[in-house]
Amino acid sequence: MSSLASRSLRQAARTAVRALPKAQAAPFSLLAARAAVASRATPTPSTTFTRGVKTLDFAGEKEVVYERSDWPLPKLQEYFKNDTLALIGYGSQGHGQGLNARDNGLNVIVGVRKDGESWRQAMEDGWVPGETLFPIEEAINRGTIIMNLLSDAAQSMTWPEISPLITKGKTLYFSHGFSVVFKEDTKVIPPTDVDVILVAPKGSGRTVRTLFKEGRGINSSIAIFQDVTGQAKEKAIALGVGIGSGYMYETTFEKEVYSDLYGERGVLMGGIQGMFLAQYKVLRANGHSPSEAFNETVEEATQSLFPLIGQYGMDYMYGACSTTARRGALDWAPVFEKANLPVFEKLYQSVKDGTETRKSLEFNSRKTYREDLAKELEEINNQEIWRAGKTVRSLRPDHKEEGQ
Ligand SMILES: NC(=O)c1ccc[n+]([C@@H]2O[C@H](COP(=O)([O-])OP(=O)(O)OC[C@H]3O[C@@H](n4cnc5c(N)ncnc54)[C@H](OP(=O)(O)O)[C@@H]3O)[C@@H](O)[C@H]2O)c1
Repeated sequence: MSSLASRSLRQAARTAVRALPKAQAAPFSLLAARAAVASRATPTPSTTFTRGVKTLDFAGEKEVVYERSDWPLPKLQEYFKNDTLALIGYGSQGHGQGLNARDNGLNVIVGVRKDGESWRQAMEDGWVPGETLFPIEEAINRGTIIMNLLSDAAQSMTWPEISPLITKGKTLYFSHGFSVVFKEDTKVIPPTDVDVILVAPKGSGRTVRTLFKEGRGINSSIAIFQDVTGQAKEKAIALGVGIGSGYMYETTFEKEVYSDLYGERGVLMGGIQGMFLAQYKVLRANGHSPSEAFNETVEEATQSLFPLIGQYGMDYMYGACSTTARRGALDWAPVFEKANLPVFEKLYQSVKDGTETRKSLEFNSRKTYREDLAKELEEINNQEIWRAGKTVRSLRPDHKEEGQ
């Protein structure tokens, strides 16, 4: 990006950096300086407000964003005063969403397999057997809003028992479009006389909880699959706020599940592991040491560049790096784009035609699921790149490996 606005922004940042005392004029000072001028130089995005609801211009496309500020606690509690939120499943999302809704003063109960790991975990978090913690079927019978937060494979496996309990007047809630969209494979076909809604937090359940406790709130997607009462959308927004969302974007069940499965297989996880590995292997094959190959591939990316890209964008990164790095990165980006485009197209197709869902259901429903997964993760753990990474990480002053 080389618009006049961004050029003058960069110029202003450089001037601000030059004005700083020498000791501060490191790359991070450049950042701080840019932040200081950004508020003046960045054009304000065009925004239309209707109370907390905003229409925002995302790169030329207008989208509606729903905000927590429209739902102060007394209004939220009044709205759900006759409801019982029955959270079915207490994994990462059950934990985060359940505790947030409870702290928001809503009437929440948890339904999980009696005496399983989740039952134990729920008791640890203060859910009381017979009062707020029940076996799955009993919780569904007691609930008016049934929040299906079982693992996606378990949603499919348990559907024959759960489905008849979702009676008229109840609301069926998901945090992923998976089960409903791929119904040919999951066999999850909601009853036709209930509202079916989705609130999908854009992050792990642990983050749903920590952001709530910090008073911030996670961003979530909301969607409506079936609206029999005419209230489905309002309920989805209110539930989004109830479980701890700060902002909510509107989508459909299909788009939510397609983008989610695609993203995690692509740049978020699968793509990045493949890219790291390919770059590392070529460095090693050309005689670079494991530490050098790791530092140049993973450490610098995760510790320095990715946070900057996250905070200020890619154009900023190009502007803030050395002229040598900039020239090469500008030249090679289109080469990588061209090489990767067919892979991403193939991946999207594989998500859309259900191949990814079938693979996931098959694998995650195996009796040997835990052992099979452990074997594959051990393989990654044993890859030279990640073994080298352990030693590199141990040198960080704030080093802590998981479990420490
Ligand atoms: N995790 C995320 O980052 C995330 C983010 C956004 C949306 N979501 C969506 O949120 C939903 C819940 O995900 P999650 O990650 O929180 O859940 P999870 O950890 O995958 O699921 C755990 C729950 O499923 C139960 N379960 C597993 N197999 C079962 C079976 N055969 N019968 C009964 N219960 C069974 C477990 O109970 P036991 O302890 O008794 O085995 C546990 O309570 C999913 O739709 C997921 O796609 C997840």
